[in-house]
Amino acid sequence: MVHTELARTETCVFDAYGTLFDVTSAAQRCADALENKADALATLWRTSQLQYTWLRSLMGKHADFWQVTGEALDHAMDALGISDDALKTQLIELYLVLSAYPDAKLALVALRRAKRPAAILSNGSPKMLAAAVTSAGLGDLLNAVLSVEDIGVYKPHPTVYQLAVERLGVPAARICFVSSNGWDAVGASAFGMNAVWVNRSGLKIERLPAKPITQIKRLDELPTLLGL
Ligand code: LAC
Repeated sequence: MVHTELARTETCVFDAYGTLFDVTSAAQRCADALENKADALATLWRTSQLQYTWLRSLMGKHADFWQVTGEALDHAMDALGISDDALKTQLIELYLVLSAYPDAKLALVALRRAKRPAAILSNGSPKMLAAAVTSAGLGDLLNAVLSVEDIGVYKPHPTVYQLAVERLGVPAARICFVSSNGWDAVGASAFGMNAVWVNRSGLKIERLPAKPITQIKRLDELPTLLGL
């Protein structure tokens, strides 16, 4: 069903990791080497990575997402008692070629057909984002790929969402922001964007000072919401 407010937006801005790219795919591809710890590693790696972004932003100690992702992997492997430097190198390098969710490409193709601009706004460093976008074959479907590296602070700091407004030249109220990270959708909504939460695993709503405008389960539901 068409969502009236979303149908009035001009541009879609997507989160990258977890939204377009499946962050668990790196550990899944090393499932044999990780034995029964692949799921635990994927979860602890991701939660540590996000916590480190928030903590570094609070501490005023920014380091780019490549470094943070590596440090989170070091911690996760250490915590799970996995000591294997070759495996660590393999896992971190897989982060440059993460699988895109099949529904991500479907949504981006539908936007392109409708001449609706689409961009990425991500914590990822420019190098990581360029590699992932190219490897997933999404480059031709995106009008811009924006990285927090230009401002040196992580989501959900409001200056990150402001970066999209400035670079895309579209007011927040005309942006449809799409993230599978509930806290990121909340951050965009608190900033004034129309945020859609891609709640892939049916999580409960976060108790934070704003709410997404709506929820979907998969990205291929987005074009209908936009009235395309
Ligand atoms: C990103 C993280 C939040 O891509 O997944 O910005």
